[in-house]
This record gives sequence, C-alpha cells and structure tokens, in this order.
Amino acid sequence: MEPVKLADGVYWVGAVDWDIREFHGLGTPQGSTYNSYLIVDEKTVLIDTVKSPETETLLGHVSKIIDPVKIDYVISNHSEYDHSGSLGRVMEAAPGATLIASKDGVKRLEQMFHQDWNFQAVADGEELSLGGRTLRFIYAPLLHWPETMFSYCPEDRILFSCDAFGGHVATTERFSDKLGVPFVMPYTRSYYAFLLAAFRRAAAQVMGKIAGLDIDMIGPSHGPIWRGKDDLAALMEAYRAWTSLELEDRAVIIYGTMWGNTGHMVEAVAEGVSSGGLEARAFNVQLTDPSEIIAGSFISKLIMFGSPTFESGIYPPVEAFIPYLRVPRDKHKKIAVFGSYGWSGGSIPKLTQALTAEGYEVMEEGLKVRFTPTSEELDACREFGRRAAEWARERLAADAAGEAAAAERQ
Ligand SMILES: Cc1cc2nc3c(=O)[nH]c(=O)nc-3n(C[C@H](O)[C@H](O)[C@H](O)COP(=O)(O)O)c2cc1C
Ligand SMILES: [Fe+2]
Ligand SMILES: [Fe+2]
Repeated sequence: MEPVKLADGVYWVGAVDWDIREFHGLGTPQGSTYNSYLIVDEKTVLIDTVKSPETETLLGHVSKIIDPVKIDYVISNHSEYDHSGSLGRVMEAAPGATLIASKDGVKRLEQMFHQDWNFQAVADGEELSLGGRTLRFIYAPLLHWPETMFSYCPEDRILFSCDAFGGHVATTERFSDKLGVPFVMPYTRSYYAFLLAAFRRAAAQVMGKIAGLDIDMIGPSHGPIWRGKDDLAALMEAYRAWTSLELEDRAVIIYGTMWGNTGHMVEAVAEGVSSGGLEARAFNVQLTDPSEIIAGSFISKLIMFGSPTFESGIYPPVEAFIPYLRVPRDKHKKIAVFGSYGWSGGSIPKLTQALTAEGYEVMEEGLKVRFTPTSEELDACREFGRRAAEWARERLAADAAGEAAAAERQ
C-alpha cells in the first residue's frame, strides 16, 4: 500500500492487516487496518501509530512523504497497543518529537511503556496550532478506554476518532464512499456492538459533544475513512440509534444442540416469533463467533435461549454465552428459554435462574420437550415463539411507560 491523501498535507500512513482473524475476543473474518495519519504543516504531526508488527510499514509510509526525524508531535488518541505498539520505534526515529495525549493517556503510556518520552498532556478542548491549521483535542472517555480522546482539525473539517466509528475490515480502498455504506456498515456495527456498546451512555455523551462540529471526514483507527455527506449522515444515524438503544423488531435465538432436538424446536419457535411480529434470527453457539451473535442481538427486542439438558443443567456451550449478554450493560433484555431433555430435565429452570440472576426479565414457564418433538409439540413451539414475541413487546412498552411516568414525576 501507498500513503493515501485525505486533503492537502493530510495523509493516511497506516497498515492493512489481511491476516488477523481474532482481536481480543472479537472475530475479524475480513482482517483489519490500523490507521495512522500524518499532517504536514509548519509543524508535522503523526496521529496514532500501529500494532507493533506493522511498525516498519508505518515508518515506510511516513518516509515516502517526509523524513520521520521531522515529526514534531506524535499524538496518542488512545493508548491501547494496536495504536501505541510502534511508539518506541517512532520516538526513536523522531527523537525531537513531543508525545501528546490526554492527562490520563500520558499516565497510561508511562505505565505501559516505562519510557522517559517528552510527554505533553492536553486538556479537553485544548488546541494546538500547526501553523496553517489547528488540532483540537476532544476527550472521548471510554471510547474505547477511559483515557481516549479525538483530534479534530477545523480547517480541514476532519475528525480523527480512533476506535469510535471504526470497523475491522481490510481493504485496499480507504474511503467509505468508494466502498459503499452497505459494505462498510456491518463491520462498523459489529465493532460497536462488541467494543463500545458496553459504554453506551459515555458514547451518547460524546455524540452530543461532537454534534456541533463541521465534519467532512471521519478518520477512525480501524477500517475505512468515512467521507461524503450521505455516508456521514448514515454513520451518525447508526450511532445515534445504537447509543440511544433504539431496539429493533427482532428476536435472536441463541442455541446449542447435541442431537438436533433443540435444533428442531428452534425452527418452529422462529416461525412462531415471526408470526408474533418480530423478525427471528437463530445462531448456533457451537458454530458461530460470539461477536456475530452480539452484533445481531445487542438491540433486539427479544432474546431466546435454546438449550438441551446436559447433566441436569444447561448445555455448557450455551451457558458460556450468558456473560456476553452483558454487552451493553443495560438491563432492557427480555428473554425466553426452551429446550429438549431426556428424563430429569433441568436446563429450563437453570437458564431461568442464571438469566434472572443477571438482572434480565425472563418469561415465565420456558418450553421443554422430551427427546424428539412430535408435530403437536412443534405446534406448541410455534405458539411459544408467538407468545414470547408478544410478551417482549408488551413488557418493553410497559417499561417505556413506566420510565416516562417516572420522568414526569421528577
Ligand atoms: C451428555 C448428555 C447428558 C445428558 N444429561 C441429561 C440429564 O441430566 N437430564 C436429562 O433430562 N437429559 C439429559 N440428556 C438427554 C438430552 O437432554 C436429550 O437427549 C435431548 O433430547 C437432547 O437434545 P438435543 O438433541 O437438542 O441435544 C443428556 C444427553 C447427553 C448426550
Ligand atoms: Fe481500543
Ligand atoms: Fe483499536
């Protein structure tokens, strides 16, 4: 790859990682990119670095534009290793550079790298003049770590947002308007769902902070650069809906099966859910990356767990998924459970107990079927799915009415 120009004097100098398939628990079936940006003005600035194995790629890209020794400022928007991994080599190559981060960011980098670099901590809203242009630092706590900030260039109207608005996908094309929103958005969605949805309230606050900015381009630290009015509008609308927890008319069925019996139930339950007014999607936990299930379920109105009884309890692959439901940490989730058993049963009460203990509302009376479901039992599965869809919608409407009444009382 060559450096890519975003505007006069502003370049993408990052690295494309075609091979990565797993990113601290998040599946990355199409690889990723680590985006660094170089601004050449009276002062020269490098915004974020890359994962350490890609360091030479980064320095190679910078060298095609300027000698790295000329870098005056290195900005660390976020200290996580995928963006800080090359700092050691970069600070060696640019020994006169000042390393800028948020107050917490400086602390974090000191703890992580134990180096006596020439640090400068910047405050929220502080500006740095580069000569012809300015960089404004906007604290964005919890997107993705507590120390994270954005850098905004008002003259070029570019927001360098680090993890926020990013997505894991490796491409040779750098811009969203060339790739198309329908291509980019699913990566943006699963990235948000897996990494940022846990900090939904903080994300909503940051969305408020950047709402008034004049933005022509958003350069995140992973995946395509967002460009073009329609693309940026689609991105902002998606983040608005996700951060405000606008639930989709969807049910996600998360299940496992040893002999296919719970699997048969899933098909009938899904038909019932659909007749109850929610689109149904089923994911076999044994065959699916958790991040895919989370991207499907994090704003669905109903979640269903299907588990056979295994040693008087929940089938372990299904049980293992329960902690992933904590993303986002809101307790809006409405859940219904079902599954096949042989003699004692046990998966249904244990699922109900485990999910209730997590703080979710579970529909009473999960549905159980002994061994292979009969056609009457499959009808009961359809009826169960329909009833669960209606129950979830009613319960969510009741919650919303309760919240509205509480807000009025305040
Ligand atoms: C390893 C194993 C352990 C099981 N333990 C129990 C049990 O403790 N209690 C019970 O009622 N059924 C038990 N069963 C029976 C299954 O729950 C039953 O066969 C069910 O139909 C399997 O559903 P599936 O095809 O969706 O996996 C067990 C089955 C297997 C294979
Ligand atoms: Fe991160
Ligand atoms: Fe990252």
